Amino acid sequence: MHEVGIGLIGTGFMGRAHALAFHHARSAFELPLRPRLVGLADADPTRAAVCARNWGFEQAIGWEQLVADPKVQLVAITTPNQLHCPMGLAALGQGKAVYCEKPLAVTLEQATQMRDAARAAGVVTRVGYNYLQNPMLQLAKTLIDSGELGEITTFRGEFSEDFMADPQGAFTWRCEPGQAGGALADLGSHALCLARYLLGPVARVCADLHTVHARRPHQGGLRVVEVDDQAHVLLRFAQGASGSLSTSWLWHGRKNHLVVEVCGTRGSLLYNQERLNELKLYQAGAAPGLEGFRTLMAGPQLPGYAAFCPAAGHQLGYNELKTLEVRALLEAMAGNGSHTGVDFQEAWEVERLAHAARASAAEGRWVEL
Ligand SMILES: NC(=O)c1ccc[n+]([C@@H]2O[C@H](COP(=O)([O-])OP(=O)(O)OC[C@H]3O[C@@H](n4cnc5c(N)ncnc54)[C@H](O)[C@@H]3O)[C@@H](O)[C@H]2O)c1
Repeated sequence: MHEVGIGLIGTGFMGRAHALAFHHARSAFELPLRPRLVGLADADPTRAAVCARNWGFEQAIGWEQLVADPKVQLVAITTPNQLHCPMGLAALGQGKAVYCEKPLAVTLEQATQMRDAARAAGVVTRVGYNYLQNPMLQLAKTLIDSGELGEITTFRGEFSEDFMADPQGAFTWRCEPGQAGGALADLGSHALCLARYLLGPVARVCADLHTVHARRPHQGGLRVVEVDDQAHVLLRFAQGASGSLSTSWLWHGRKNHLVVEVCGTRGSLLYNQERLNELKLYQAGAAPGLEGFRTLMAGPQLPGYAAFCPAAGHQLGYNELKTLEVRALLEAMAGNGSHTGVDFQEAWEVERLAHAARASAAEGRWVEL
């Protein structure tokens, strides 16, 4: 089996998730390419050295050297959003495949540069929209595409968490417009990606963005927050359905509340990431009194589940979705494109949608895509 040299940048929440996924993918799948953990980079070299040792990387190294290292063929970027563009462009310039965390970039201009550079380099790219790797959401898509719900009329999406709910919560890089982009970029981008995955292109949007807590503690003082804490977006899909999407990082009690509901002329379905092994399906036409949602449960009948566990009901978790994303990426690098995944072109479409929503909110009108 051929090896693929991995260079990972970042050792935070997502750095660890990527490292776990590269390890797990080797055990769960018959991979066409074997990941070799060549190097790990972080702004904090001490942490990089400790994590490199603990996570099984051959060396801790600066990120510029890492992307230039001839032993590295795939660069994984898990740094704050504004670093995706310079790091991604550097890796693409070296002809490396790139696995970048979402959102693709902070501005549409950066995202366009990255998409164009990926096209020019002709390499495989992937962006960490991991939720659509869930076999239960792939089942939802199969049900929609096969007409099981009839003609699709309505979409509802929400991604809410509460990690910024405390008004005294610190100002972080996520609050900085030039570095991140608020709740819509951080959480809403996942829901926008799922909307496109399930129902296809969006034709127009009308949005309201809202900064609820205008100042947050920063370095002993208070700093003005200019990004959105919550957003509400109306959507009209190209195929005719209408819908809405909301996102908030202030919603008390919501921990990973990524919910999608799709309604058609013959039924509806409901998915909630906090119950990621379940899909609720309602099919119209049952006898009166016997109507209701059925709960479909993940099990080894779904190949993405069977790779991890032969028994139904034992459940997949977040890190398995990341592992499925890595498998799809390595298959694509080996020339097998049959696995789901979001490349730079599709991630650019998500950025275009988010950009249109921001323009709509700023100008107070519907925006056509
Ligand atoms: N796909 C998902 O479900 C998901 C979940 C959380 C975060 N994310 C995305 O992952 C990215 C990182 O988020 P996180 O929560 O892991 O952040 P984090 O703050 O936990 O980690 C960021 C890491 O980047 C490192 N870093 C910062 N500047 C650097 C530099 N110049 N050179 C090298 N390393 C540098 C930091 O030291 C840290 O290790 C963001 O783009 C975020 O949107 C995705």
